[in-house]
Amino acid sequence: MAESWVNSAQRIGVDLHLELSGAGSRRAVLGRALRDAVRDGRLAPGTRLPAYRSLAADLGLARNTVAEAYAELVAEGWLTARQGSGTRVAQRAEPVVRGREPRPGLRQTSTRPTSDAAPRHDPRHDLRQGRPDAASFPRAAWLSAARRALNAAPHEAFGPGDPQGRIELRRALADYLARARGVRTTPERIVVCSGVAHALRLLFAGGVLRGPLAVEAYGLPFHRSILAAAAIRTVPLEVDDHGARVPEAASVRNVLLTPAHQFPTGAALHPERRAAVVDRARARDGLVVEDDYDGDFRYDREPVGALQGLDPERVVQLGSVSKSLTPALRLGWMVLPEHLVDVVLAAKGEREAWASALDQLTLADFIDSGHYDRHVRRMRQHYRGRRDRLVAALAAHVPHVVPTGIAAGLHAVLRLPPGSERRTLEAAARQGLALDGLAAFRHPDAAPTAADGLVVGYAAAPDHAYGAALEALCRALPPG
Ligand SMILES: Cc1ncc(COP(=O)(O)O)c(C=O)c1O
Repeated sequence: MAESWVNSAQRIGVDLHLELSGAGSRRAVLGRALRDAVRDGRLAPGTRLPAYRSLAADLGLARNTVAEAYAELVAEGWLTARQGSGTRVAQRAEPVVRGREPRPGLRQTSTRPTSDAAPRHDPRHDLRQGRPDAASFPRAAWLSAARRALNAAPHEAFGPGDPQGRIELRRALADYLARARGVRTTPERIVVCSGVAHALRLLFAGGVLRGPLAVEAYGLPFHRSILAAAAIRTVPLEVDDHGARVPEAASVRNVLLTPAHQFPTGAALHPERRAAVVDRARARDGLVVEDDYDGDFRYDREPVGALQGLDPERVVQLGSVSKSLTPALRLGWMVLPEHLVDVVLAAKGEREAWASALDQLTLADFIDSGHYDRHVRRMRQHYRGRRDRLVAALAAHVPHVVPTGIAAGLHAVLRLPPGSERRTLEAAARQGLALDGLAAFRHPDAAPTAADGLVVGYAAAPDHAYGAALEALCRALPPG
């Protein structure tokens, strides 16, 4: 039978895409195509199939041929036929899962942070860093912002997007970032992107910035791998209780930092170092790339404004809604020195290919209508409560383990006695507890250090499971 591709929709309002090919009678070919569609999951259990008449018309087959093929699959248990509800894919006709099944157990002893990857299976207890509380996404407010944004959107918003981003969003961000983070910018200096990772790709893989880059000795391996893929050599900077030490004499011109809340150790960059790093960039014609990933979340310390405010021509501020709203949105921004705007836009290409214009308009409305501020304030309270419970649980059960870096952000670092990190992670894995050790974040060329520790994310666990996760953590920690 000749190959034919058909979309059938008329009667039941759904498309059924079938590939009719191979040897055999028409009925056999159709039966095989339907079985394949059920088996590989294209036709999910419960899906209603088109009436014989419409499928026959679409495929150029006799109505009887379709009826016979359906009857055969009903007899085999692939389909069910009921008076009044038509022919449907049987509930038990589970599709074959393609690809490897997740292996049981947690990748606790790997040096790659479990938090870096999308979850493949759910741990019993989740204290991974890097994830906001998924249950707190403001669905209703986001939906009403989307409705308002769609109603107000001009027709051109539904055409190809401007790679710089919607002006509505850039205006909203310029106001918000100035007010909340002390950023000095205009909408013209903002380029919308899909997040900090995308921004790094544009800056480095896009060739905007070249040459080696100084990075903090502890940081996100995912970001280091983006830089490595762009053939950017990274030089680790020592990190202490005052953030990164950027030596005056080092030859590297450009620096990537997390000044508001060093990731993951948690220090805020000391004011003298903030000034020095900007002076250094001025003196060397270099740039500071500021990853302002969780600047909105600070609890009991003075807010640390964005470094960008010190010199908008020497600092590129990168941010996203990944911590404040959800990493699922994939929306972020770059606040650029004037001379870099066109270069970054050239790296981005002629059309917007990453950030949905409709999501951008929704976020603009969400910010302008005050929902973003309200959400951030609500989440600040929520996460502060979570952090306080972590601190209290440690004080009650393992008082020798002191959390650090807790004044801001969504995670804390628990320092461990030298040599005990791996053992503690193994003990955590036995409790079904997912979290990472400090070693997973260390730059491969960083000087050997005795800094063993755990990075504990207190945002991701659902409310009902947080207490049990803390208990599992306390059981896994070494006794005093
Ligand atoms: C250090 C750091 N920077 C940035 C981000 C955000 O990355 P993105 O905006 O690509 O989701 C994260 C994770 O949420 C992070 O841990």
